[in-house]
Amino acid sequence: MTLTRGTKLTVVGAGSVGSSLAYAALIRNSAREVVLYDIATAKVEAEVLDLAHGTPFAGPSSISGGSDIDLTADSDVVVITAGAKQQPGQTRLELAGVNVRILEAMLPQLVALSPNAVFILVTNPCDVLTAVAERITDLPKGRIFSSGTVLDSARLRWLVAEAAGVAPQSVHTLIVGEHGDTEFPLWSAATIGQTPLSAWTDADGTALFPRERLETLTHDVVNAAYKIIEGKGATNYAIGLSGARIVEAVLRDERSILPVSSVLHGYRGIDGVALSLPSIVGAGGVQRVLDVAFDAREEELLHHSAEALRRSIELFA
Ligand code: 2OP
Repeated sequence: MTLTRGTKLTVVGAGSVGSSLAYAALIRNSAREVVLYDIATAKVEAEVLDLAHGTPFAGPSSISGGSDIDLTADSDVVVITAGAKQQPGQTRLELAGVNVRILEAMLPQLVALSPNAVFILVTNPCDVLTAVAERITDLPKGRIFSSGTVLDSARLRWLVAEAAGVAPQSVHTLIVGEHGDTEFPLWSAATIGQTPLSAWTDADGTALFPRERLETLTHDVVNAAYKIIEGKGATNYAIGLSGARIVEAVLRDERSILPVSSVLHGYRGIDGVALSLPSIVGAGGVQRVLDVAFDAREEELLHHSAEALRRSIELFA
């Protein structure tokens, strides 16, 4: 277990996502100090108390929090989960109007209180909010980004792992683009261990990932959140773990490659739009967005996703 010493993580929003993220961070020892902040006093105090009662069984991380924004001061990482959540059948982009306003109202004060922090946006639509955040703050490039398709990529890794009968950690697949309906998998680069997905067979030599299966897997990832929201009203555990994982990459200066979403400036002709691409994440946030060897279809899908996001930014930002 690596504990990141002397580090402060603030989670903004004590809803199901923020509370699960704080819980995951405590169990994983993502930061020395975890602070949960929300304007809803009774709710945040109750969540903090419940989390604190579990700390004898977690690592040495501490948890505190409340509804006073000063509690967030001098954070090393601030993760923002506050905002309206999707209702059954609603798309993430449909949340843009209300959540852009919420972000505009709180981000400047959070930045003023933690001027050296890395800011990670989880609230949806996270790509649109990232583009807005870049406009309303003057943080150095890479210091504000969103969890993007880290979660969607994990969903795909798990689905492929189940089909192949291997550990999800041995599956190397990425979802890129919007964290939403236009996201897509980079099948051309997908491997299980060192084996290209297209060459993976079962023990009898039957190919396990023909085109129809890839289409089904894509559909299942793109619709995963809709299915979960239909069943229980929100997604929380996997995004909590994804968020904690990203926080660790920053606080431990891991330089891990994760599909987070940051604002692109001239990436294959895309400008001023944030979307997810494999990026080096470490101290200071996104250190570099990697150039990807897209095939022709993937390149087309990338621009389609960027266009959908550009339209949403123009409407709401
Ligand atoms: C998710 O994908 C709703 O964006 C959230 O779980």
